[in-house]
Amino acid sequence: MCKARALGGVVLLLLVVVVLHCNVVTLASAQGSNTGPRWQTLSGGPPFVIARGGFSGLLPDSSFPAYSFAVAVGVPDVIAWCDVQLTKDAIGICFPDIKLQNASSITVVYKDQDKSYLVNGVPTQGWFPIDYTITDLANVSLTQGVYSRTNKFDGNGYPILTVEDVFTQVKPPGLWLNIQHDAFYAQHNLSMRNYILSVSRRVVVSYISSPEVGFLRSIAARFNPKITKLVFRFLKQTETEPTTNQTYGSLLGNLTLIKTFASGILVPKDYIWPVDARQYLLPHTSLVADAHKEGLEVFASDFSNDVPYSYNFSYDPLAEYLHFIDNGAFSVDGVLSDFPITPSAAIVDLKVISKNGASGDFPSCTNLAYRQAISDGADVIDCPVQMSKDGTPFCFSSINLIDSTSASQSNYSNYAMTIPEITEVSGSGIFAFNLTWDEIQTLRPQIMSSFHLDLSEDDFNLCFPCFSFQNAAYLAENPRLGVTDAVMTALKVGGYDNQTNLKVMIQSTNSSVLMKFKDNNKYEIVYKIEELIRDASNASVADIKKFADSVVIKKESVFPVNSLFLTGLTDVVAKLQAFKLPVYVELFSNEFISQAWDFFSDATVEINSFVSETGISGVITGFPKTAARYRTVFFTNPAGATIIAENRCLSKDLKTAPSYMSPVEPGGLFQLILNPQYLPPAEAPNPIFTVSDVVEPPLPPVAKTTPSSPGGGTAAAPTPSRNGQPRLAGCIFLSSMAMLLAALLLF
Ligand SMILES: *[C@@H]1O[C@H](CO)[C@@H](O)[C@H](O)[C@H]1NC(C)=O
Ligand SMILES: *[C@@H]1O[C@H](CO)[C@@H](O)[C@H](O)[C@H]1NC(C)=O
Ligand SMILES: *[C@@H]1O[C@H](CO)[C@@H](O)[C@H](O)[C@H]1NC(C)=O
Ligand SMILES: *[C@@H]1O[C@H](CO)[C@@H](O)[C@H](O)[C@H]1NC(C)=O
Ligand SMILES: *[C@@H]1O[C@H](CO)[C@@H](O)[C@H](O)[C@H]1NC(C)=O
Ligand SMILES: *[C@@H]1O[C@H](CO)[C@@H](O)[C@H](O)[C@H]1NC(C)=O
Ligand SMILES: *[C@@H]1O[C@H](CO)[C@@H](O)[C@H](O)[C@H]1NC(C)=O
Ligand SMILES: *[C@@H]1O[C@H](CO)[C@@H](O)[C@H](O)[C@H]1NC(C)=O
Ligand SMILES: *[C@@H]1O[C@H](CO)[C@@H](O)[C@H](O)[C@H]1NC(C)=O
Ligand SMILES: *[C@@H]1O[C@H](CO)[C@@H](O)[C@H](O)[C@H]1NC(C)=O
Ligand SMILES: *[C@@H]1O[C@H](CO)[C@@H](O)[C@H](O)[C@H]1NC(C)=O
Repeated sequence: MCKARALGGVVLLLLVVVVLHCNVVTLASAQGSNTGPRWQTLSGGPPFVIARGGFSGLLPDSSFPAYSFAVAVGVPDVIAWCDVQLTKDAIGICFPDIKLQNASSITVVYKDQDKSYLVNGVPTQGWFPIDYTITDLANVSLTQGVYSRTNKFDGNGYPILTVEDVFTQVKPPGLWLNIQHDAFYAQHNLSMRNYILSVSRRVVVSYISSPEVGFLRSIAARFNPKITKLVFRFLKQTETEPTTNQTYGSLLGNLTLIKTFASGILVPKDYIWPVDARQYLLPHTSLVADAHKEGLEVFASDFSNDVPYSYNFSYDPLAEYLHFIDNGAFSVDGVLSDFPITPSAAIVDLKVISKNGASGDFPSCTNLAYRQAISDGADVIDCPVQMSKDGTPFCFSSINLIDSTSASQSNYSNYAMTIPEITEVSGSGIFAFNLTWDEIQTLRPQIMSSFHLDLSEDDFNLCFPCFSFQNAAYLAENPRLGVTDAVMTALKVGGYDNQTNLKVMIQSTNSSVLMKFKDNNKYEIVYKIEELIRDASNASVADIKKFADSVVIKKESVFPVNSLFLTGLTDVVAKLQAFKLPVYVELFSNEFISQAWDFFSDATVEINSFVSETGISGVITGFPKTAARYRTVFFTNPAGATIIAENRCLSKDLKTAPSYMSPVEPGGLFQLILNPQYLPPAEAPNPIFTVSDVVEPPLPPVAKTTPSSPGGGTAAAPTPSRNGQPRLAGCIFLSSMAMLLAALLLF
């Protein structure tokens, strides 16, 4: 393991690539339709979850608990949606409707004081914000406006919030202001424009939407789209837009025009997936593709788990979201939902990355192992690249073929030699670079443990040329075979270079190696920190950020262990995440000997603890099936269904998450060792990662070689990346495992 770093190993991770060129086996996943960069949004990033009035599906719309609950259970960058209304004294409040009676107690507080006004030309009866100052509204509380939802929180007296209140009290990761009515307020001498311009100096607004062209035009020049994006909101196709007098349906015909004053559009979901009169889904329209072509982001509205939607989704709201964000053809850029937990489950990834394929079940890097990994639900297939003597890159777990092939019993046993840099542990080796590809193909892979059986010879073939490369530095220096160059060539010839639906990740422990790939922005550059560390200096992380897109660390750098007992939780993941570097952790294994006692020899408990406590973005595992199932099971047990409390973090009152879903408490079990004689000796703490650990000398030049062609780079068969994992806020799940341990201590 450690020798890999010394040699600057490189591993290529292919995001569910599904043609392994080896035996021309086309591997398609059972699940369906697309492979690929995960998201076909305009930016390529994951779609946004926009929480309409907070978690309004359960709590009174626009109330503090609704917003904070949405922030707690949504994706980390969930956006809080506020429908802005103006009071008589021109204060902006968040309230879902221009009529206050719909979702507040105003009919009680100001009994019989309803009025009638023209709203977009339609006489409308009710209580309007323009008749009340913010002080007048002090005793009016928010209530549930949708009568099919529970009204049991109506008595809690949640106050009406101003836009500033939401910003300062809830601190949402993003704020979206929707201006449903500008013309109406203008008729009453209240300027929405002035209000928005002034409030945006005090709060950071990510998006401003409006169904009124005139309003957006009037503010367009005043906003920097890098900070605040303007979004044109489409209403029903037959409705008339009040400032142009055209229907929304006809405005849809000229997206170029929309682009002149907005950078995105918000449309009812049936603009994208229409339904027939019987609520069956019709084929999708081309709207998302058309708008993306114009450079417009597309947001879809009207998502709600408790309002009937198309029968094609079998009453499963997650299935509906997946049709909009993960359908193989397009992805909307955001969804507006009353139940933000559901799209969050569809969006946050826990990447399942295989280790040499499903190497827990089959010999590493064989067709069989890769095929199994894909059918088990791995999102990313890894390939440690080795090079044969004649320059063929291929996937194999080790540069030393003795490690897991029949090499030592083969005709090539006389190639055995000792290279101290590589064979420090095992003594002598038979090295990939001493054998030609034809010779290597005669070797049989061997699995370490001996319980497998009845495999046909074909299934054992080493994989060629899926790639991943280890030992790049060694090869470049010594046999002068340029593995990095060979891989770049192979990727190019194989067509991976310009595939839009296939993502290639390149992993190495050596920054010099990764820098060679940095210029091709198609690749995700993954830096692996092979050492166990207890912290990383800010400067070192800043350095990593310069060339890498994500980082792999070892399990023990997250939860350090002593004698297989967890001793704590480091800040390493948080540090890397603070620099917006996704963190993948290796190596997860179902074999109990690889797990700390704290996880009870249960691989699911282990994965759950890493995910829940640190929000890691992926696990690297020889047993992808377990990790993939974890995602599914975790979400069919929606632990979020419970929590209402006044305080933002809620955790204190919360004993509702089932104990099996609680992460273990690091160090808790260790404290149960009461007799000091039994305490394992304290171990030296792991080092801190510093800048000098990142910097490497540049790769030496390589002698010219002609790597053989990697063969037909047929496009990958489509495989869906499965959706993942809502990052349930750590604070939501108080560790009830910790309580269990406390209880044990009492006896
Ligand atoms: C309140 O708003 C909801 C949702 O828009 C609507 O269904 C309902 O009819 C409204 N109720 C009143 C009293 O206006
Ligand atoms: C709100 O209620 C309190 C207590 O009932 C009362 O003292 C106060 O005047 C009320 N405020 C407004 C604005 O009606
Ligand atoms: C708005 O202001 C104008 C001019 O100041 C005045 O004539 C008009 O009556 C006002 N309208 C309302 C609804 O207050
Ligand atoms: C809008 O259209 C209607 C009907 O076509 C017409 O009567 C009205 O005058 C138009 N209003 C404006 C502001 O153009
Ligand atoms: C769409 O709007 C643009 C910009 O205003 C205009 O130049 C163009 O003629 C319009 N196209 C159609 C088909 O109306
Ligand atoms: C929705 O279900 C109906 C009935 O099974 C089917 O005919 C239709 O093709 C489905 N729509 C889509 C878009 O799959
Ligand atoms: C080893 O060499 C012998 C003699 O050249 C040959 O018959 C045999 O097929 C070879 N075995 C392998 C595995 O290549
Ligand atoms: C294996 O390769 C190394 C490096 O190129 C070379 O020095 C050595 O002689 C080779 N060994 C054999 C047995 O070919
Ligand atoms: C990749 O793009 C290049 C140039 O854009 C093109 O010549 C080549 O055929 C493409 N390769 C594949 C596999 O699509
Ligand atoms: C490292 O960065 C974090 C956040 O950017 C900051 O809070 C912390 O103080 C920094 N630590 C040092 C030692 O500079
Ligand atoms: C990284 O690669 C460079 C260039 O080949 C090499 O000199 C250096 O030793 C490698 N570093 C490690 C830690 O392997």
